[in-house]
Amino acid sequence: MYISEEEILDHLNTKPFRLIAEAADELGVEAYVIGGYVRDLFLNRHSKDIDIVAVGSGIELAKKVAHKFGRKVSLSVFKNFGTAQVKCDDLELEFVGARKESYSHDSRKPVVENGSLEDDQNRRDFTINAMALCLNADRYGELVDPFGGIDDLEDLTIRTPLDPDITFSDDPLRMMRAIRFATQLGFFIEPDTFEAIERNKARIEIISRERIVDELNKIILSPKPSYGFELLDQCGLLDYIFPELTALKGVETKEGIGHKDNFAHTLMVLDRLSRTTDKLWLRWSALFHDIAKPATKRFDNRLGWTFHNHNFIGEKMIPGIFRKMKLPMNEKMKYVQKMVSLHMRPIALSDNEVTDSAIRRLLFDAGDDIDDLMLLCEADITSKNPDKVRRFLENFREVRAKLAEIEEKDRVRNFQPPISGEEIMQLFGLTPSRPVGVLKEAIKNAILDGVIPNEYEPAKAFLLEKAAEMGITPIA
Ligand code: CTP
Repeated sequence: MYISEEEILDHLNTKPFRLIAEAADELGVEAYVIGGYVRDLFLNRHSKDIDIVAVGSGIELAKKVAHKFGRKVSLSVFKNFGTAQVKCDDLELEFVGARKESYSHDSRKPVVENGSLEDDQNRRDFTINAMALCLNADRYGELVDPFGGIDDLEDLTIRTPLDPDITFSDDPLRMMRAIRFATQLGFFIEPDTFEAIERNKARIEIISRERIVDELNKIILSPKPSYGFELLDQCGLLDYIFPELTALKGVETKEGIGHKDNFAHTLMVLDRLSRTTDKLWLRWSALFHDIAKPATKRFDNRLGWTFHNHNFIGEKMIPGIFRKMKLPMNEKMKYVQKMVSLHMRPIALSDNEVTDSAIRRLLFDAGDDIDDLMLLCEADITSKNPDKVRRFLENFREVRAKLAEIEEKDRVRNFQPPISGEEIMQLFGLTPSRPVGVLKEAIKNAILDGVIPNEYEPAKAFLLEKAAEMGITPIA
């Protein structure tokens, strides 16, 4: 085990647990710390959320505990749910009475009755989440582990305490949770449990998209997210929750030419990127970067398989997918769109000669996200040919050096053209119209192409010249 019994006792020998113990003994109820906190304690992971079960009223116990803590705590009581929360510094203690639950087929909302500790443990999702440590003085620190949660922790196993068909049909979100815990902890899903997920996968449809996304986010933020996506795919859940990703699967061959399996490739990019960043939305960008490959795939007799414009079509597909999955339709989505639309640029750049003007344009388009984009592009090199990989990575080094050099020299990263549309209108007495846009764009391009420096006076001179060519003259 990762932590000894003695260490567990030391851990429980702290003020919050001591106070709960005192309060429980005074009220004459049994009290246990249960669930994720106990699991994490044995895994030597430290959690600030503590779930306490009282065999009796959780609310009464919470009130007494809050009283004992004194003034520094806040107590919230949720009478309808029979729960109460005590917050003290950064600790959150959730109190609930032990309960027995029964579920109807079409809802996650159970009918709840008071029950014993065993009833309460029976209704929990996994053996490793059903362990309880007693807090009453005469049994302080005693582990109650009716389903062998400790053995499963040692064997790195996710398993339901009851028949998995019952546990998953009671609450189908648990199918996602099984895969999420397996991915976060690097555990296996016990075969009967996994087969039950395959059988019950369609029940995921009664779960809100927001909850599904919460679990997906946790999978994506795990050390090796591909493991979670492979499990989601193998049990069939992925088809329900993110069909655009399973559409990337498979290899087609024509005239002896195949293309790579874009599902396997996408997961490899996600894993590679996860080694260099823990930014959630950059990791999501890896999942989306080739999302339009199925839609753009063509076989060309001369070129073989092509995926023309898959970056731009991908960018366009993203709002629809985000809306459907209830992902945020805000600047996070715009960021993912930007990453997807630009992900071919550094590669295209390093294929040819790296010109200053191309570098300026990339800096202008990527802005502050240029470093993220480079990480994504480097992770995108998954070729099995070591010479090819070496060549690409060398080219990227060159692109990075050039990016630094040009940014130092020209400052175009967050560049605003030195002459605004407003000023153009005033200078020439124009109303908002096409010529204003044309002139503004001409200044921007002249700067990005290095025709003029990124400064006011040269930009104004250029503007006057350009306007004259168009037959537009300044007003007196
Ligand atoms: N639980 C459950 N079924 C669910 C959600 C939760 O049985 N769908 C139980 C489990 O015993 C779990 C406990 O409620 O340990 C607390 O749930 P939660 O706070 O969501 O998860 P944790 O296990 O604490 O893990 P994490 O904080 O990583 O989500």
